[in-house]
Amino acid sequence: MYNMKEYLKKIPHAIKRLFVLVKEVSRETKMPAYLVGGFPRDLILGAMDWDLDITVEGDGVKFAEVLAGKLGAALIKHERFRTATVILDHRVKVDIATTRKEIYPFSASLPLVSPGSLREDLFRRDFTINAMAFGLSESMDWELIDIFGGKDDLAAGKIRVLHDLSFKDDPTRILRAVRFKQRYNFKIEPKTLCLLKEAVNSGLLEKVNPHRTRDELILMLKERNPSAQLKQLSALGALSFISDKLRPGKLTYDLFKSVHKEIIWFMQNFPFHRQFEAWLIYFAALLRPLALPEIKKVARRLGLSKKEEQKIVSCRKINQRLIRRLKNRHITPAEIFGLLKPLSYETVILLRSVSHDNAFRKHIADFLKIYNGVRLCISGDDLFRLGVLPGPRYQKILNKVLAARLNGKVKSRQEELALIGRILMHKNGEEKCPDMSALKKR
Ligand code: CTP
Repeated sequence: MYNMKEYLKKIPHAIKRLFVLVKEVSRETKMPAYLVGGFPRDLILGAMDWDLDITVEGDGVKFAEVLAGKLGAALIKHERFRTATVILDHRVKVDIATTRKEIYPFSASLPLVSPGSLREDLFRRDFTINAMAFGLSESMDWELIDIFGGKDDLAAGKIRVLHDLSFKDDPTRILRAVRFKQRYNFKIEPKTLCLLKEAVNSGLLEKVNPHRTRDELILMLKERNPSAQLKQLSALGALSFISDKLRPGKLTYDLFKSVHKEIIWFMQNFPFHRQFEAWLIYFAALLRPLALPEIKKVARRLGLSKKEEQKIVSCRKINQRLIRRLKNRHITPAEIFGLLKPLSYETVILLRSVSHDNAFRKHIADFLKIYNGVRLCISGDDLFRLGVLPGPRYQKILNKVLAARLNGKVKSRQEELALIGRILMHKNGEEKCPDMSALKKR
């Protein structure tokens, strides 16, 4: 459990300075300021978290303007929500809001927001562990405000709602409850679990704007153990907001295990490769048993981007034919390259997760380690100099040379040029063989 003095010693200088300035702004503007949300929770648990949420009694946007001015930091205002974000650097951002109360006109709607006291601001929140505040003003000097017993629930490892309507008001809290439960290895307190199950059984998750459930789902899939998150949701019967056809079983959970291993393998072996979305691989694995039209329906309803949809569809299209070809011990590097190059990293990682066959896994590893990095010494410029007119033929010729290079048939610029000569000769007839002497000298 936390020790404020010890903690303050450990935090980076930029954050310390931020807290000093918040205190200063609070004094000058006479607006009490509080750290709220996940930061107090994680701080008490001993974790460092630089996503700071500050709420002020008064006017959050004005407070943020003065603070950003003192810090010389960038400020993004969201006037409609009366909030603002101060960007300290790429790692630290501070959301500043005005204390408010929320009323939900009907279940799963967006709330009607109006100014409120700190108590009301804490009461509108999801769980007791997320409804604590640290007073940042001079008079409060990091005093913990814990009206609803959040600290005790943290100590006991309990997820507890603040009132009976919590899940009805905002059903995305069903997903949040599971996420925090798994993340901290907590228990959902019995009455909260009852309310949660009632909300699931009434289909409330299906009533929420799908973009909101998508965002929460992605956060779940970005947690340390996405498989456990989905298992728990499935056990609660809470996956139908994705598709009522989803019934993940042993096959899916085994695939998750392999995906987990392959993601670690990929990150350890290729730390400098282009970024990939690990959450998307788990999601694609979850959706794999569904038919393609259903997968597209899910992707569209959740408002995934076209790119994300394409990646998930391509994961679904991994078939036995592709797997068989990659298992073939006699497959050439150029064939492996041809099969894997069009696929996203997400699809390649999922593909490597579907079979334990040694040759298959080595072929994919070779693609990533060797073939994918192979570059030709010649380029389109060389073809131009040889009198080939630009057009689709360029790519065809370059592909042939690349295939030869991958298969070890050509190993140098000279050999690549010689091969082009042979390709063109074959195409044009002997007498039109181009003069390559100028190129060879380069
Ligand atoms: N909150 C809520 N109901 C929601 C979403 C958020 O009451 N549906 C409140 C909680 O008090 C939460 C705070 O808003 O702590 C900030 O939300 P968010 O940044 O989404 O969550 P964190 O608690 O910071 O969780 P994480 O550590 O995953 O960022």
